[in-house]
Amino acid sequence: MLKTLLAREAVRYVKSGMVVGLGSGTTAREFIKALAEAEVDGVLLVPTSADSEVVAYEVGLGDRLRPMWAVDRIDLAVDGADEVARDKTLLKGRGGALLREKIVDYAAERFVVLVDEHKLVERIPARNPVPVEVLPWAWRFVARQIEKKYGGAARLRTDGGKLGPVVTDNGNYIVDWVPPGPVNPSIEEELKEIPGVLESGVFAKRRDAVVLVARHDGSVTQL
Ligand code: A5P
Repeated sequence: MLKTLLAREAVRYVKSGMVVGLGSGTTAREFIKALAEAEVDGVLLVPTSADSEVVAYEVGLGDRLRPMWAVDRIDLAVDGADEVARDKTLLKGRGGALLREKIVDYAAERFVVLVDEHKLVERIPARNPVPVEVLPWAWRFVARQIEKKYGGAARLRTDGGKLGPVVTDNGNYIVDWVPPGPVNPSIEEELKEIPGVLESGVFAKRRDAVVLVARHDGSVTQL
């Protein structure tokens, strides 16, 4: 499976004693499992979601977990993405973990992104909305502001059959914005100028990332 291949490749970047940021999502889960198998000495792990934290516990890495406030650096972060543009701007947050992911991924000395080739796009967003984490109290104001300033449609994320909005690990809501076309990297900062916006899924500031791409022929290449 492609995610397992990516995970094994990413584990090579982990050296003993490192503080490693754990991304979130199905690919990040595979990385956490591969890390447990690799038994690297003395690593500390900073999870970006309750989901990654639970997976780490389940595979026996519970004693390695630390909250962000308990570490003084992130040596390496390994994370998935929903879309990767040609210029390495990432779209993330489909799983709702974007706020902590951005903190950890941006703090990391080295950032490794794991995707399969169908996630490579010309510009973002290609297939997914742009997720925006918002203060719950302000969600409607934020959605209207985004539509007024940039067009498109901004909707509160709700959870399928259940009633009510999706609540993030941080107790916030997510507004999913479908813009009228591709966005510029500057949108990352512009969105944050709207009061109530906490973070967006546009990750335009880690163009130095190592992007590992799993191809359908079973090879893994670097973008
Ligand atoms: C979590 O909120 C996201 O940012 C994930 O990193 C992203 O959705 C990739 O997830 P998968 O590895 O499950 O595709």
